[in-house]
Amino acid sequence: MPKELSTPQPALPRHIAIIMDGNGRWAKKRLLPRSAGHGAGMKRMISLCDHAFSRGIRVMTLFALSTENLSRPKEELEALFGLFREYFRSNLSKLREKGIALRVIGDLSLVPEDIRTLARGGEEATKDGKTGTLVLAIAYGARADILSAVNRAVEGGRPVGEEEFSALLGTAGLPAPDLLIRTGKEKRISNFLLWELAYTELYFSDKMFPAFTNRDLDRALDDFAGRERRFGKV
Ligand code: FPP
Repeated sequence: MPKELSTPQPALPRHIAIIMDGNGRWAKKRLLPRSAGHGAGMKRMISLCDHAFSRGIRVMTLFALSTENLSRPKEELEALFGLFREYFRSNLSKLREKGIALRVIGDLSLVPEDIRTLARGGEEATKDGKTGTLVLAIAYGARADILSAVNRAVEGGRPVGEEEFSALLGTAGLPAPDLLIRTGKEKRISNFLLWELAYTELYFSDKMFPAFTNRDLDRALDDFAGRERRFGKV
């Protein structure tokens, strides 16, 4: 049997994670403030998620703010917090209509309290969604998430296996990402989902995130469909 027939390939990823990089450079090139880049990025993010869910992707995980990003200038952080508020206030009914459950991962004790409340309210309001899950990583760092899981495991007083450990992470209960997309030319993981990405296919785009179109997502999906995933086997 030809090799490609012996290794069944899922044509479509179940779970896509995206590092939405390049908002600042996109804005700079247009002589706009960085906040305008984040605003354009949010619009792109909404459109990409609509497109992905309509194509049958089940989980979208988006890196919206890292713990390291929290040391950015106050003005830029305020602009990002403003976008999060706007997103949570304006998009929940649409998520509910489409059957998308919202989940927010990260250390929300590091962001203003009203955002924490809006995020938890959004999760509650959409929790019955069965079509897909939208995971927003806010004030998220994978090392911190892993450490917190390790500490909880240690408190349990006995060794845990991989599955049990996965259930202690922010992404508990979700399948691992099949495909990671990073826009903005850089080729690194930047403390995103370090445990979960063990066997994820990586796709890097030179486009800045606000310029990464739905068609570009289709290209990434086509590329994914041609990959042979062996998960360490032959
Ligand atoms: C990285 O680009 C991007 C961010 C730190 C923020 C991403 C946030 C959004 C796209 C808005 C999300 C909105 C919601 C509601 C989740 P960068 O600023 O580091 O770009 P640069 O590398 O070009 O400077």
